Amino acid sequence: MNHIKTTCVHPIGKEGASVTTSIEPGTANDYRNLKELNYPGFLSTHNQHRLGEIIARLEGAKYGVAFNSGMTAISCSIFSLIKTGDHVLLSSELYGGTFKLATKEFIKRGISYSFVDNTLDSLDKHKRENTVLYFFETPSNPLLSITDLSQISNWAKTHRIKTVVDNTFATPVNQNPLFWGIDIVLHSGTKYLGGHNDLMFGVAATSDPVLYQALLNTAKIYGGALSPEICYLAERSIKTLYLRVQQQNRSAAKIAAFLNEHTKVKKVYYPGLQTHPDHQIAQKQMNGFGGMVSFEIFSEGKHMNRFLDHLKIISPAISLGGVESLISVPAVTSHKDLSSEEQKSKGITAALIRLSVGIEDSDDLIEDLSFALSKM
Ligand SMILES: Cc1ncc(COP(=O)(O)O)c(C=O)c1O
Repeated sequence: MNHIKTTCVHPIGKEGASVTTSIEPGTANDYRNLKELNYPGFLSTHNQHRLGEIIARLEGAKYGVAFNSGMTAISCSIFSLIKTGDHVLLSSELYGGTFKLATKEFIKRGISYSFVDNTLDSLDKHKRENTVLYFFETPSNPLLSITDLSQISNWAKTHRIKTVVDNTFATPVNQNPLFWGIDIVLHSGTKYLGGHNDLMFGVAATSDPVLYQALLNTAKIYGGALSPEICYLAERSIKTLYLRVQQQNRSAAKIAAFLNEHTKVKKVYYPGLQTHPDHQIAQKQMNGFGGMVSFEIFSEGKHMNRFLDHLKIISPAISLGGVESLISVPAVTSHKDLSSEEQKSKGITAALIRLSVGIEDSDDLIEDLSFALSKM
């Protein structure tokens, strides 16, 4: 098997004379050939099918499906595995949209859920007879907690519970959950895979043919078609994924070390820091610690605004994973829909900042942060 550096550039063989993939807008496929082509029979532009295969290669999976957003990948993965009457375990640290999906939608469908803190004790405590699924992120959004993938997958297999991991923050370069026994891995492709803050898509991958079929069936009901142009751009972006992520890993480590020593910074969350409580697990299961750094400053309110206003390179914007460094305050952006009690219980304070490190020069980024912190 090739190194992922090579797989990013040559994920699957070229199809024509050109070394780049063609955009094929056709949506009406000759049904006599569909079986042979192994097309799912829906969402079936050639480019969307191909993007699914590419993510499968990157994640070391047998099957992959591409969707029009990360949220569609999440909804389809979850709803392909559960039915009315089932119980779901969810990590208490989740992207705000996933949290909302559970708290607002599950109840309408007669699905119960419990939030867990990703330890075996917590899983044992909350597991029920009808628990069928455990969904989590590692590293988590926004506090970058790490969950032990092999420990969880072993526990889940013992209890016949399926596991789904949102691998958006890690990327397939830094972590491959299926390798550790997880059933479905998914990404918001809008982030690192797209990587340029200009594409929206999602992907899910599995090596289990039954789960793949279930995913396709659910996707057929919920939709999620992607235009072939977006698929083409996603494929093009993935060619530089390895290079981008390596640079982001290096810069994030340097920035985390800088923030960790800064007098105006109360706490730094970065799995690559030896002081991170889950550092050893991260070291075991990750090839790199990622490009996301969260940190808490000592003051909030107008001090926070002064900090954001004095940044010159890093943009306050709600996304992550792109070539441009972005910064956000989760309490008023990605996690704003949580009540203040819910935010508090998860450690999401008004002074918490989430930095997505881009591919700019790391010293320039440190200077930008240093200047803005001095103006608080
Ligand atoms: C960890 C994570 N998963 C999923 C999503 C949802 O992805 P999308 O915006 O592509 O729907 C996000 C969005 O911010 C995210 O941060």
